[in-house]
This record gives sequence, structure tokens and C-alpha cells, in this order.
Amino acid sequence: MSEATASWWRSAVFYQIYPRSFQDGNGDGIGDLRGIRSRLDYLGDVLGVDALWMSPFYPSPMDDFGYDVADYCDVDPVFGDLADFDALLADVHERGMHLIVDLVPNHTSDQHAWFRASRSSRDAPKRDWYVWRDGKGPGAPPNNWPGVFGGPAWEWDEATGQWYLHSFLPSQPDLNWRNREVREAMYDVMRFWLDRGADGFRIDVAHYILKDPDLRDLPLRDDIGETGFKALGEYDRYQHVHNKGHPDVHEVFREMRAVLDEYTPERFAVGEIHDFDVHSWASYYGKGDELHMPFDFSLLWAPWSAERFRELIDEVEAAIPERGWPNHVLGNHDETRLATRFGRGAVRGSAVLLCTLRGTPTLYYGDELGLSEVEIDVERQQDPWGRRVPGLGRDGCRTPMPWDGSEHAGFCPPDAEPWLPLGPEAGERNAAAQAADPGSVLSLYRALLAYRRRSPSLRLGDYAAIDGVPAGCFAHLRTHPGSPAVAAAVNFTGEPMTVPGLPAGSIVVSTGMDRAGEPVRGSVRLGPHEAVVVEAG
Ligand code: GLC
Ligand code: CA
Repeated sequence: MSEATASWWRSAVFYQIYPRSFQDGNGDGIGDLRGIRSRLDYLGDVLGVDALWMSPFYPSPMDDFGYDVADYCDVDPVFGDLADFDALLADVHERGMHLIVDLVPNHTSDQHAWFRASRSSRDAPKRDWYVWRDGKGPGAPPNNWPGVFGGPAWEWDEATGQWYLHSFLPSQPDLNWRNREVREAMYDVMRFWLDRGADGFRIDVAHYILKDPDLRDLPLRDDIGETGFKALGEYDRYQHVHNKGHPDVHEVFREMRAVLDEYTPERFAVGEIHDFDVHSWASYYGKGDELHMPFDFSLLWAPWSAERFRELIDEVEAAIPERGWPNHVLGNHDETRLATRFGRGAVRGSAVLLCTLRGTPTLYYGDELGLSEVEIDVERQQDPWGRRVPGLGRDGCRTPMPWDGSEHAGFCPPDAEPWLPLGPEAGERNAAAQAADPGSVLSLYRALLAYRRRSPSLRLGDYAAIDGVPAGCFAHLRTHPGSPAVAAAVNFTGEPMTVPGLPAGSIVVSTGMDRAGEPVRGSVRLGPHEAVVVEAG
């Protein structure tokens, strides 16, 4: 693929914003659209990302902090209004950046007008917009499906004497995607945002939307007790073969793609698709006629091991169809912060990989500062998951962005109370301090992204792992016709090592002391946890 024909999203670096926690613009302690707009200099000029994905900002009772949508075509007053959205989008576009919004098609809030109409009576015109069933007997739900957030996936509705399906919270009823009107309504929601100029969507639990039409019981897993998965609770006792990922979902993805393709310039969609099997995951690329890509969570779930990383990356590279394009995610609003999950030693090496591997990277806000997971006292916990299933809360990765050394780190005014506490490290680990420190994690990301922008090999080139490197090292090579080849080598260990097999050239970015410009003659010496990017030539 040449520079001229490559789509914008292939060479873009995405950045996920959790709107409640990015920047408070009106002093109520909760982030909002105006706040985000006031930080575009940081995103575009300081850090240098190309595209933003915002988690939901729609009107919502906030039972799941916006993933329970009460109106798909508006902005919750806590975040601003549609005029704020338009102004933000205009500013993003003026900088040559792109903005995608979060589409939540699997479920609505139980406060959505569609659900209110659906539950009003058994013969309501919208009854079939949701999944209503009789139980197996008094007090017994229609099947054994568990909800992701604990408890059964069914809720009894006293007034109409039936159960409704909710894959997540009881206040997040699942839409019935086998109903044509539901599909058309959601495609109109897509058009609503595309007409306003949005560049596309991140699609929430995309493969959940179609289930087994007979709603058959889930079989139990046979490896329970051996894997430790039990600790994750009831949900993980089952093989989730009927409650998501039904093959009919591909038809819906083709329909969604057709909606995106009604628009120019090109619009884009990435699906949130958790699937542990690489081949079934890769099937979500379709034939180039479905969503542009499914998020690749394989590295996010991996241990920090050079051998495991290489194995997973090679597997994914081999499984992706020719027209597909890889992508990498190392953190998001559902997972423990990278610095805590992989360990502090992995922060810089993982940055090098995220920004040099073939494919579109998505950075999670704050990971560019190397933020740790924040411990939140039980009384201050907000996430419904953690409140229902202790230990599974996601608040620790959703705390306010630390901007500077002032009170509340510049996230909100000193007299406001941030909706979640800032971490104890915000005083030193904040954007202003790191921007001024050439040895910071932020400065490393800036250098990586700036180099990536200059290097067609990094943005568009082929990938090959480099063989013959020592245990604990992963190194790879990116090549693109007409552009210098680029190698990256990462020491995953706390011991120094010598890495052979690299092209002759010079170091362009390093995580240790500044080694940029240092010549490389085939091998390079790496200190503990050190990583380098080498340009051939
Ligand atoms: C996705 C979101 C998560 C949300 C869930 C239910 O997994 O990333 O935050 O709670 O869907 O909508
Ligand atoms: Ca606010």
C-alpha cells in the first residue's frame, strides 16, 4: 500500500479519552467536552496523536457511566450539549485530526424511550425491539445465561409477566438485532453522527449483538478449577457459545459498513471484540466489507514476556487476512493500568512496541505518562461492576488526568471535588512535568510518534520478527519500498543483553539515556528494560 492510497486510519495513532476524567471545563469535578476541547494543543502538538476516540457522552443515568444510553442522538448535560460537540469536532478537524464516537448498539438504558415503550405492554409496537421471553417456570429465567456484571442475564418484569435479556446490568436491556426496525433505527443513529461530521465509531461489545436465535443454555467450562478463572466469578464458569458472536453478526457488520460507505471522506469503524481464539477473532475482518477492524486485545492480556509477545504477534500477523490491517491496544477504560499490569519496567519498552509494530495503535489516556492503577477506597468506588462483584471494579484506571502540579493536578478547579480521586503520584507524574523533562515517558512517546510520522516503514511497512535474539528480547523489522528499514529491539528483562541481527544504521529513539545518533553495526547493547529504534542506512 503506497502513501497515496493508504486510508487515514491505517497510519493514524488513536488516543482514547474517557470524557469524565480528561478535563473538567465547568468546575463540577467531572470532565466534559469543553474540557477536552481546551486540551487539543496537548493532544495534537505536544503528544502528536492523529485521531481521538471518546467513550460515551450521551444522556444516561450513568449506571455504567454512559454505556447505558438513554438517547443516542444527544449529549448528556454533564458533558455539555450538541453545540459543544460540534465545536470540538470542528477544532479537531481544523488540526487535521479525526474523531470517532462510541456506538453502543447491544443495549440501551432502561430509561431509553424505546425500552419504556417496549416494556409498556406485551403488544406494544416496540415490544419486539428487546428480547422478551417467558421463564422456564415460576421464578426461573428462560435460560442459564449469566450477566457480565454478575447475576443472571435476565430480569423479571412484574407488570408484563415476562423476562428481558440484559448481557450487562439489569438497567442495560439488550436490543433485539433480529428485528429489522431496530437495525434501521441504529443505522439512523450512525447517520446522525456521520452527518455531523464524525469520522466513525468504536463499536461497543460489537459481537454481542447477535445471539443464538433459540437462546440455548450455555455449557459449563470443563477446565474450571485449573485455570484460576474461577476468581473472576460466575460469568467465567460458562463457555459463551450462544450468548454472543453468532455468525449472523457478520451480516450486520456488512450493513454497518454500507452505512459508513455512504459517506466521503472515508469513515471508519473498529469493533470491541473480545475473542480468545485468533482465527475466530480474525474472521471479524470479513472480506474487507465489514468493520475495518476488530480491536486486538491479545497483547493487553499477555504477560510481559518477550517470547509470548513474539508468539502472539506472529500468530495475529499470520491470521489476519491480506486486506486486513493489524492494530494494538495496551490499555483501556476496562483494564488495569499498563504500568501496574505489566510492571513499571515495561512502561517504556511497551511504548516502543505500541508505536513501532505494524498496525494502528490506540493509546489510553494517561498511559503516555506511565500512570499507575490508582487504589480507590471502597466508599469512593463508582464502577457498578466493582460494587456488584468486589475486586472487579474499573475505577483505578479511570481516574482524572493529571495535567500539572496544582491542586487536583489541573483537572478541575481547586474548590471542586473530582468525581474519582487522583492518584498519589499526580504531583510528579503529570503532563506539565513530563513535557519539561526529556527523560520522561511522555518525551519518549513524543519522540516515537514524531519519528513514526516521518517513517513510511513504521506507518505502512511490512513486519518480520528478528530471529536469533537472546532470551527475554523481542526485536522486529519494518520495511517499506523506498524508505529506510526500521528495527525495534526491546529488553523485557532487568539484565543487560547484546542483541545481534539488527540492520546497520543508527539509533533514532532510545528509552535509556539519549542514544539517538549512535551508530549500530549489526548488534546493539541494551541495558535493563531498555529498548531502541534503529534506522537502517
Ligand atoms: C464494553 C465497555 C465497558 C462497558 C460494557 C457494557 O465492554 O468497554 O466499559 O461496561 O461494554 O456496555
Ligand atoms: Ca464538568
